[in-house]
Amino acid sequence: MCGICGYIGKNNGIDEVVQGLNILEYRGYDSCGIAYLENKKLKTIKTVGGVNNLSNLSKSMSANIVIGHTRWATHGGVNERNAHPHISSSKKLAMVHNGIIENYKELKEQLDVNFCSETDSEVFLNLIDSEEGSLVEKVIKASKKVQGTFAVIVLAENGEVVLGKRESPLYLSNMNGEIFIASDVLALKGEYFYSLNDDEFVSIKDFKILFYNKNGEIIYKKQEKIEKNEVLPEIFYKTHMESEIYETKNVLLKTLKEYKCEDIFSNIKLPKNFRSISLIACGTAYHASLMGAEYFKEIGYDARAYLASEFRYGRELLNKNTLYIFVSQSGETADTIASAKMVKSHKLYTLALTNTPNSLLNRICKNVLPTFAGREIAVASTKAYTCQIWSLYLFSLYLAGKKLPSEKKFANFPFTTFDETYIKEIASYKKVFFIGRDLDYITAMEASLKLKEISYINCFAIASGELKHGTLALIDEDAVVIAICTQEKIKTKLISNLEEIKARGGKVIVVSQFDDFKDFSCVKLSKFDELFMPIVSVIPMQFLALRICEFFGYNPDKPRNLAKSVTVE
Ligand code: F6R
Repeated sequence: MCGICGYIGKNNGIDEVVQGLNILEYRGYDSCGIAYLENKKLKTIKTVGGVNNLSNLSKSMSANIVIGHTRWATHGGVNERNAHPHISSSKKLAMVHNGIIENYKELKEQLDVNFCSETDSEVFLNLIDSEEGSLVEKVIKASKKVQGTFAVIVLAENGEVVLGKRESPLYLSNMNGEIFIASDVLALKGEYFYSLNDDEFVSIKDFKILFYNKNGEIIYKKQEKIEKNEVLPEIFYKTHMESEIYETKNVLLKTLKEYKCEDIFSNIKLPKNFRSISLIACGTAYHASLMGAEYFKEIGYDARAYLASEFRYGRELLNKNTLYIFVSQSGETADTIASAKMVKSHKLYTLALTNTPNSLLNRICKNVLPTFAGREIAVASTKAYTCQIWSLYLFSLYLAGKKLPSEKKFANFPFTTFDETYIKEIASYKKVFFIGRDLDYITAMEASLKLKEISYINCFAIASGELKHGTLALIDEDAVVIAICTQEKIKTKLISNLEEIKARGGKVIVVSQFDDFKDFSCVKLSKFDELFMPIVSVIPMQFLALRICEFFGYNPDKPRNLAKSVTVE
């Protein structure tokens, strides 16, 4: 949700950290700040808004040890007081924090401190400051008293830096004596990095890095190589979202090629004679999981998709003959992680389908099936969604013992945008509905999520067959209904639904490859195999959301109240 960054070295750490925060800004962008040492005193610069503001405020300043944060508010409103870094009441420590301290209210009552902000982070910091011992001992002691999640960088006025984490990612790299710290490998420099596990801590003093476990014992950690795709992608269109949609064909092709040339599928350890698959995910990844479940049913498996935020509390009978697939672009989503940990604790078969190498989810699960969508920066997931569907489809072919399709097929991959003439019209409606049956209903859900997420239009998806069980009451001349029809078997039934909508004054726009909808406004899709049509048909829906967002003058890459990685529950 938030991004944290740190620098210790001979160069200007303010520039380095601001650069790092710029890269991490996609994770949170309502306020940001840095802390640094000036004449042995801790100083902060904080601002509401984006890293651009911070960059202007810190121009021509310099410091060698700097920590920084870009925030997505959870506790306390968006203002400079609540922005990180926080300074402890003794003024001896500064800290940036990702995550949530669940018991901060109890802890706050126990501390005799005048708090400056409404944040849980400031409570954690003052708890650290109230402990006895060296800085790393203080952080370890305080971490035992907090419930919740954290990734922290603590900077002391003597220049010592301590890091610690639980469930929220934190990494560091050491490049020729310059130390970079970040909550995402993307913002690190160098070729190798260290990844902290839960309840591991680091102390950095006079450039010496020491790692500790939760008992305060020194531990040895191996470095890992930074993957080549861990670089900020270029954008070839106005926004990351648009560029990412246009990458669809390439990333599908890349995923197919990677699956063909490596033994990715055969390395997956599967339960013996299993016939059941559960898919667990949130948001867009949940929609991909719903689609995946249909592909697995198609080849005879008992498959079902669950919302991770519900599954983790659910009463599902977990069993050793089921494969549990956790689908996540980031591999960091808190509810998906919690569900994976829960399943893993029963020693069952887990598979992470993620787009992020080295992600927490990959580390938890027994098996990993990567998607090769490349970095996705826009908050609204597009190419990662199509890639997830594609990967699940290819995995279903593997399970069924079928050959993967030929790359040649993709030479003709159809790419349809949403007809621009409808954009202004749809944006003028008070109510927007997406309808579909079978696989198209899943696409309708995804289309609706995408539209509300970046255009803030009140819209929702409904299975066409459910219209007459209540929702038809909302259809009048203020409603536009976007109907998706890519499956032959549901054409006729859908037409009756559309007539019902028309009769009540609702505007209908059909998205389909069929010629049967001449009486309605239509966005025409090119024909492709039916099972691929969920990929073909979701692209115009992604464009629809993008263009309406732009029509209203919003930035699709940075929607309000959302961030790319939802690491809080
Ligand atoms: C919507 C969107 C979110 C994510 C959800 C899960 O466009 O991006 O709904 O799909 O937060 O995120 P991951 O896939 O990272 O687990």
